[in-house]
Amino acid sequence: MTYSLRKRKNKWMAVMVAICLVFFLVVGSYTSKSHVRTLAVSIVDNGRHHRQSVLEEPKWKGSPETRAVDDDIREEYLNGSPLVRHRKTVAKQLQSCSQPFHKPGGATVLINAVNPEGTISRLSFAPLGFMPSDVYRFNPNLIPSPPGSQYPYIGFARESIKPIKDAVSVRQHNVIYCDMDWAKSDTFDQQMLRCVNEPKTLDLPSWRSPKGSCGLWSKSESGVGHIDSRIFMSPRGEPLMIVGTNGIANCVHQFVVDLRTIVPDLESKLKVENVPIRFANLTALPRESPLAEIEKNYQLLFDEKDDIFVHHEIGDRSFTAMSDVGMRNLGVYAPTPECISALRKTFAHPDSQRMTIHQATNSLRVTLCEYPCEPSLDNTVLISIMHVKYERFLDVYYRRHLVVMNATAPFHILARSSNLIYAGTDERHMVYSVALEWDHSHYRRRRELLDNPPNAVEKREESSAAKLTPGTNNLVNDYYHGWLDDTVLISLGLNDRESASIHVKAGRLLDCLELCPK
Ligand SMILES: *[C@@H]1O[C@H](CO)[C@@H](O)[C@H](O)[C@H]1NC(C)=O
Ligand SMILES: *[C@@H]1O[C@H](CO)[C@@H](O)[C@H](O)[C@H]1NC(C)=O
Repeated sequence: MTYSLRKRKNKWMAVMVAICLVFFLVVGSYTSKSHVRTLAVSIVDNGRHHRQSVLEEPKWKGSPETRAVDDDIREEYLNGSPLVRHRKTVAKQLQSCSQPFHKPGGATVLINAVNPEGTISRLSFAPLGFMPSDVYRFNPNLIPSPPGSQYPYIGFARESIKPIKDAVSVRQHNVIYCDMDWAKSDTFDQQMLRCVNEPKTLDLPSWRSPKGSCGLWSKSESGVGHIDSRIFMSPRGEPLMIVGTNGIANCVHQFVVDLRTIVPDLESKLKVENVPIRFANLTALPRESPLAEIEKNYQLLFDEKDDIFVHHEIGDRSFTAMSDVGMRNLGVYAPTPECISALRKTFAHPDSQRMTIHQATNSLRVTLCEYPCEPSLDNTVLISIMHVKYERFLDVYYRRHLVVMNATAPFHILARSSNLIYAGTDERHMVYSVALEWDHSHYRRRRELLDNPPNAVEKREESSAAKLTPGTNNLVNDYYHGWLDDTVLISLGLNDRESASIHVKAGRLLDCLELCPK
């Protein structure tokens, strides 16, 4: 694809128009003054999440299957079992809709909490503000630096260098990284994240795939480079990267590595010098054969003991457990529920039109209440974002859904969100989610919350025996776990060309969900 300057101008016009439209729509849906105030508060308010009381009936009653499960729960509830009462509370919490424009089967509109206008923050991997036309830097990942660091984030992206005049040949794909800081956009008065220095390239080993393993893409055998990285913190505080590169037994496979072994000053920057390194070398992620020619979109799930499970795909779920001593092939299977498989559609002309469902991001662990409520396996879940990808010729469209899983193996899928709309994105663009990180470093307001409001003090006294710290509760840690009032940073890609990010309270993501009966 070539982008002329004019087309790009038109694209930016389209983005601006879309931003205006989203806001007219959102603001337009509020008629009374008090509602406008609610919106304003919800954008700037970092301290509190406004959730409907769990005692209120949810407005939406769910699919027929969901209703059946709900009825079962109600019936058992009459018999008074505390476990059943608990399940009812969790189900209601997931289903309740805190925003008037959130509707199941509609969309979950996410407003950027760190931008006064609520739209996405642009990310730029070009420190000087422009990039040579043959270099694309996209698929962004961000790791928040610890409090007190010189720069707030470390950014990673895929860099693809397009050989001039030969757009179809294999490009060189690298992973680059830099320190990022808030800067003012050159175009309009909005804060954006930008590399403070020229990004460096990750020095990763490369090799050939076995002869004949790449089928149609035989050129890839000699080295595809390193593609589609997903960077995230493990519960222990290891900065891990899953990345695709040439396979040992297939064309392209998924590997994991601890980034501290590649980025020299990363362990001191992240203050994780004392965390042992388990993945010193690029390690192939296990999956039972037969492997596909190209394995993609793996994610790691960490259970309540922080054991690692490789979740290969969501459309046809399978897992492999990995232990500290090498790898244990432990197949654990949990079927894909209807709420996910029903997203699949078939088209009359599959040659020209198709759709696929796949995992998109890493996972995080969330306790379904606000701090200081005590995390347990009954109120804590894993979340990640999946994609529904539609393709018709060169037109690609993504829908993005939050997936909520049980926090222990085999990670049953409990609920799924509507399409996630990142305010400020254009529906005609390819908008995809890359990674989720807790941004505790910059947006945890715990101390103020505990020191000031009277009900927080009351809450603390009520829960004086609550186990809330990593030392007392093995679900809690500073990297993989958070509460509903903590902030999640989502990094996203636009058109395989541009990057952006959005900060939202976890409670906003876990809003108005569709339950997934087993
Ligand atoms: C990692 O690679 C180095 C050099 O390639 C090798 O010496 C070392 O044994 C490897 N470590 C592991 C854990 O495989
Ligand atoms: C997850 O599964 C465990 C074991 O089956 C169960 O005890 C727990 O309540 C479940 N958690 C949620 C949030 O449903």
